[in-house]
Amino acid sequence: QFKPRIFSGIQPSGGLTLGNYLGALKRFVEKQDEGIETIYCLVDLHAITVWQDPDKLRQQTREGAAAFIAAGIDPARSILFNQSQVTAHAELGWIFNCVARMGWMGRMTQWKDKAGKHAEAASLGLFAYPSLMAADIMAYHATMVPVGEDQKQHLELTRDIAIKFNNDFKVDFFPVVEPIIEGAATRVMSLRDGTKKMSKSDPSDQSRINLTDDADQIAAKIRKAKTDPEPLPETVDGLKDRPEARNLVNIYAALAGHTVDQVIGDFAGAQFGTFKPALADLAVAKLSPITTEMNRLMKDPAEIDRILGKGAERAEAIARPIVDQVYDILGM
Ligand code: ADP
Ligand code: NA
Repeated sequence: QFKPRIFSGIQPSGGLTLGNYLGALKRFVEKQDEGIETIYCLVDLHAITVWQDPDKLRQQTREGAAAFIAAGIDPARSILFNQSQVTAHAELGWIFNCVARMGWMGRMTQWKDKAGKHAEAASLGLFAYPSLMAADIMAYHATMVPVGEDQKQHLELTRDIAIKFNNDFKVDFFPVVEPIIEGAATRVMSLRDGTKKMSKSDPSDQSRINLTDDADQIAAKIRKAKTDPEPLPETVDGLKDRPEARNLVNIYAALAGHTVDQVIGDFAGAQFGTFKPALADLAVAKLSPITTEMNRLMKDPAEIDRILGKGAERAEAIARPIVDQVYDILGM
């Protein structure tokens, strides 16, 4: 009944990291190249759930679009646009706020992590974030969503909202979406702490590799990455309880397009003094062409705005009839 369609998004809330690249961007390109219909979005409405400087937000949205294109998203084959330019997201988000339950939102670990002990001071939007995310996906009747591990719980909630809507109104209107969480780097960890995810919101810049870092910065961060004193193990089992080593091996595998087994096969017994420079060389080889292309694209912001505008028109053409049908189902 529902044709295969992929939707995913990234917040334009700061520089993109290696985690965003391996967990999201790189896989978005793979899906596009498999020939599936792909819709990708800079989710600025999500970004403002925490305060954003307006000038920076505008700049980061363009930078995000440049990163998508530099990583291999072809705006002719994929739809690439900015969320706030297609009103269907906000409209369906509101309707889903009336379908979803407070208790569902309150159980989200990302809400608990981000609001912490100061939930009273968090924005209402931060609490409702997963409901808007469900709207992003459902406004296109998307059937698959490539994401990192951290988004798994939000996608389960998207499924719950779709099922409840279909039940409440006795329709078979929304598909029950499948998360696609695959590859060696579904959860890239901080370079300073193997128990925390690599994130643009981490206060330490040493904890992450940014897509805008140059070769020297990448090499220095990998050289200083936290590790244990043991050499790499002979088998993958030996990475158990070694989160920092595991993380660097995962990153290597994802960048090289190899399995973790292959990487361990190639580096069995190697010291980090050998492995880290190899990883740094690989990271620079894979990331520097993207950085160069991003910098080139950023010299022409009008062209980026034109691409996003065109993408928004194409997105609107899919989402508008779906949201109009939702109003009809609701008796509006
Ligand atoms: P962030 O979590 O960095 O603020 P977003 O919420 O915009 O970024 O997430 C964009 C995409 O990047 C999501 O699919 C998310 O799962 C993925 N992602 C973010 N951080 C990581 C990470 N450390 N490892 C793997 N994927 C990640
Ligand atoms: Na995230």
